[in-house]
Amino acid sequence: MDALNSVRAYHQRSKHGFGRYAASPGFMDWETQPNPFRRFADATQSPLPLAADKLAVLYADLFDPGKITPTLMDKASVGILLELSFGLSAWKQYGGDRWALRCNPSSGNLHPTEAYLVVSGIAEMEEGVFHYVSHDHALERRCQFNPPFQGLLVGLSSIHWREAWKYGERAFRYCQHDIGHALGALRYAAAALGWRVRLLDAWGDDDIAGLLGLNRQADFAGAEAEAPDLLCLIETGHAVDGEPDIDRLVDTARAGIWTGQANTLSHTHNFDWPVIDEVCTAAHKPRTEALPDGGIQAGIVVEPRSPMLGELTASALIRNRRSAQTFDGVTSIPAKTLYRLLEATLPLANKPPFDAWNWPPRVHLVLFIHRVDGLPPGVYLFCRSADAESTLREAMKEGFDWETCEGCPGHLRLFRLIRADARQAAITLSCQQAIAGDSAFSLGMLGEFEAGLAEGPWVYRRLFWECGLIGQVLYLEAEAAGFRGTGIGCFFDNPVHELLGIEDTAWQSLYHFTVGGALVDGRLQSLPGYWHLER
Ligand SMILES: Cc1cc2nc3c(=O)[nH]c(=O)nc-3n(C[C@H](O)[C@H](O)[C@H](O)COP(=O)(O)O)c2cc1C
Repeated sequence: MDALNSVRAYHQRSKHGFGRYAASPGFMDWETQPNPFRRFADATQSPLPLAADKLAVLYADLFDPGKITPTLMDKASVGILLELSFGLSAWKQYGGDRWALRCNPSSGNLHPTEAYLVVSGIAEMEEGVFHYVSHDHALERRCQFNPPFQGLLVGLSSIHWREAWKYGERAFRYCQHDIGHALGALRYAAAALGWRVRLLDAWGDDDIAGLLGLNRQADFAGAEAEAPDLLCLIETGHAVDGEPDIDRLVDTARAGIWTGQANTLSHTHNFDWPVIDEVCTAAHKPRTEALPDGGIQAGIVVEPRSPMLGELTASALIRNRRSAQTFDGVTSIPAKTLYRLLEATLPLANKPPFDAWNWPPRVHLVLFIHRVDGLPPGVYLFCRSADAESTLREAMKEGFDWETCEGCPGHLRLFRLIRADARQAAITLSCQQAIAGDSAFSLGMLGEFEAGLAEGPWVYRRLFWECGLIGQVLYLEAEAAGFRGTGIGCFFDNPVHELLGIEDTAWQSLYHFTVGGALVDGRLQSLPGYWHLER
């Protein structure tokens, strides 16, 4: 089978349907639960300062270009970048169990994403390739070399096993969602320091693996492999910025002095999911032409942000972000809040996080509106780009209303398809999860599947990244508005398409999300993310 058909076949077999879930263990195999923290034995570890508390930047200011003076890049500020993107946000405790949460969310809290830094010419920091250990808020030095560029790169990889342990074959999708969330988390954290993130879209997977040492098989002997995903340049606006030459950088890193042996995350694997390795190979990204800078210039008027934001600092909001586990089933949100959330998902060139996204938008939202003041309950469509409307109209069944919404700002392409109580439908479609119906609204993310894949099989992963990035926007914006969100990876794929009358694979629902008034489980005790470190 060629790579494209292999990706298509994976997508079909990893679908959930009524009465048929994608293959998985079907139970929690606690005995082989993966260690959530990767470490490299023998790599020198250097602790980073915990300084995010001192960052007084307001969340609202992240979207006001020029408002935040770029922080000087040094060890302390790089520490803040990592603390607010991939660092621990809290520990939860119940009975004898204690588990860590992180600023970046993850399906099942399993955290397949690993973060790496390539450092050169940064005050108080050594040069080389480093692995970030979120548990210790520390860097492990993997490679000692003199990078032929000045500045900071952040690379992300995925340990598919962490998700596959619980979710089996569907896990590859969740790892990609998590990468999108992680990119969003990185972009918001960088914005809080007045920095920008440039996704280096030209880099191929082999280039990233070579630079980060992920292809050093001996270093991963007996340990779970890491698949390369993406690489970003962090721009401070200071003179050190400049995009590195791929071959020169990779070649110099290869010739560096490497140390560290990856830890084994599960002492044994009782289940094997070869299809994940197959789709990983099929969706391998080659080196491509670099695209112009990210985001689209939409020339729209941005709604003023809610005065509720008040003095909310970015670091408090980012660290307080949580997934709702239960919604109260009564809270409604103002229509204005919904519009602001939708607007925040637009791919704008001058706003985080989509200013870090160079590719054209291929994901649009189908909303199940349950409790939004001033909007009748029903199924709605939000197009994130102008050209999606006509193709989506063609792809969906006839007979939808396509009504515009009274009071909705003109630049938001929100259409009501049907007036209906969609609560039960949303619950049923989300693998019977009540969070999809007890919220104010839930949504499915419709990806332009075949058109995306026509660019190359690796775009399969990018579609999920885009969904994760939208998810991260919704998480933070919901939290900022006093509500809460939750990602929904478990949904019945084709039944969602059937509801919309989508008959082929031109469009596919790739991720779901829900937002509303959360109920907090008072039985859980909460501890600060780094209470265990005494600095
Ligand atoms: C890609 C993705 C899929 C998720 N799917 C579900 C889901 O189907 N049901 C659910 O209750 N929570 C889901 N979650 C929420 C996670 O369980 C949650 O992010 C994780 O437990 C960490 O908690 P936190 O978000 O509060 O840090 C999902 C999260 C992500 C990022």
